[in-house]
Amino acid sequence: MDKLIVHGGTPLKGAINISGSKNSSLPILAATLLTDEPVILRRVPDVSDTNYMLQILTALGADVERSSGTVRITCANITPDAPYEIVRRMRASICVMGPLLARLNRATVSLPGGCVIGDRPVDLHLKGLAALGADCEVEGGNMDLKAPNGLTGVEVDLCGTHGPTVLGTDNVMMAATLAKGTTIIESAACEPEVVDLANFLNSMGARIEGAGTRRITIEGVEKLSGVDHTIIPDRIEAGTYMAAGAAFSEGITLNRVIEEHVSVAAKVLRECGHSVEFSNGGKSVTVKPGDKPLGGKITTAPYPSFPTDMQAQFTALFATTPGISVVTDTIFPQRFMHCAELSRMGAQIKVDQGTAVITGVDKLSAAPVMASDLRASAALVLAALQAKGSTEILRLYHIDRGYEHIDEKLLQLGAQVERVRE
Ligand code: EPU
Repeated sequence: MDKLIVHGGTPLKGAINISGSKNSSLPILAATLLTDEPVILRRVPDVSDTNYMLQILTALGADVERSSGTVRITCANITPDAPYEIVRRMRASICVMGPLLARLNRATVSLPGGCVIGDRPVDLHLKGLAALGADCEVEGGNMDLKAPNGLTGVEVDLCGTHGPTVLGTDNVMMAATLAKGTTIIESAACEPEVVDLANFLNSMGARIEGAGTRRITIEGVEKLSGVDHTIIPDRIEAGTYMAAGAAFSEGITLNRVIEEHVSVAAKVLRECGHSVEFSNGGKSVTVKPGDKPLGGKITTAPYPSFPTDMQAQFTALFATTPGISVVTDTIFPQRFMHCAELSRMGAQIKVDQGTAVITGVDKLSAAPVMASDLRASAALVLAALQAKGSTEILRLYHIDRGYEHIDEKLLQLGAQVERVRE
């Protein structure tokens, strides 16, 4: 197991490239199961979650070749069984459910286990697939789905108590591409990653309209074919480095961003007094800390509102921003594990019922801290960069799930970090 040692106190400077989106790559990799023809995907980030997904595809019978950021996948002969040993490591494994069902009329996928960021049920995924005609049974820890006569288009509302579901929308959209007739998903998630998946499926021959809105219409087709697709930039990775640039830098530039996808992060940073300038047609952004920054107020909600996946990183930024900041997570109200660790570094944070109230302190101090999930780990890195002394962040595998070569990118930005074995 690796840990990251961050020798804090050196402001970041320089430029880096943002990687391809992890959360786009995962469902798009799963969607390759929908065709028996070869698919080429570019800018797939080299993170452990995409590696897990490739292992799952291989276990299902896919032929996979990976070289740098380009992956070539052929799912000619596949099986419908995704057992616990291969899916237990990553919740996003459930993305294979829709494609397997659509292609083979059967899918047996182990239920994902508990999750440190909160309760993560799969009822909406099953609701959508059942509406398309699948018979769903949960037995022995597995979801067993069967549609011996194929799937049939339907109108289904996928709104849950916490709003729409991203991967649930993806699963139903993927399944509906090969169903008979037209499917309408109401209360669909409109995250850019859903749009990237829809664009990918359309280039394979699917007929999807409305992705990026709350109503998606899918007209089923007979067959999908192989394509060459480039994954969109990772807006969460970009937002993480934007928060780092505002927290402690002489100004950093992030290349390969999409302005629209990070505009909510830019808005919050500007409101807090930081400088955020887009250039190169919105494909680059430069962030500099403001002279007199102020605390902020954020509430996470589905896109285009502030993403839950950036909440922890902005909490770390607010830890040393003068004044009181208030951070509420409406999507995962229990996603505040990072606050206890930030407090060990001197932050003043009170968490109550899905809201953190942060009183900015002058300085954080280094301490050994434990990463608990992907975004919580990123928050600890942000805190460690500005802290006095050397911080050891244990359980680095959490961050390696979703940040491509984070230690190398930080070194490129002038930070003093070392990856060492625990
Ligand atoms: N929900 C239900 N029932 C369901 C599915 C979801 O009630 O069947 C609830 C969840 O408990 C949550 C809300 O709906 O309260 C939204 O969850 P969603 O289904 O949208 O989450 P997800 O699709 O499983 C994706 C991202 C997460 C991100 C969430 C929310 C991927 C691979 N994962 O998860 O990303 O937090 O959307 O935006 O795309 C991360 O990258 O760190 C990460 C956790």
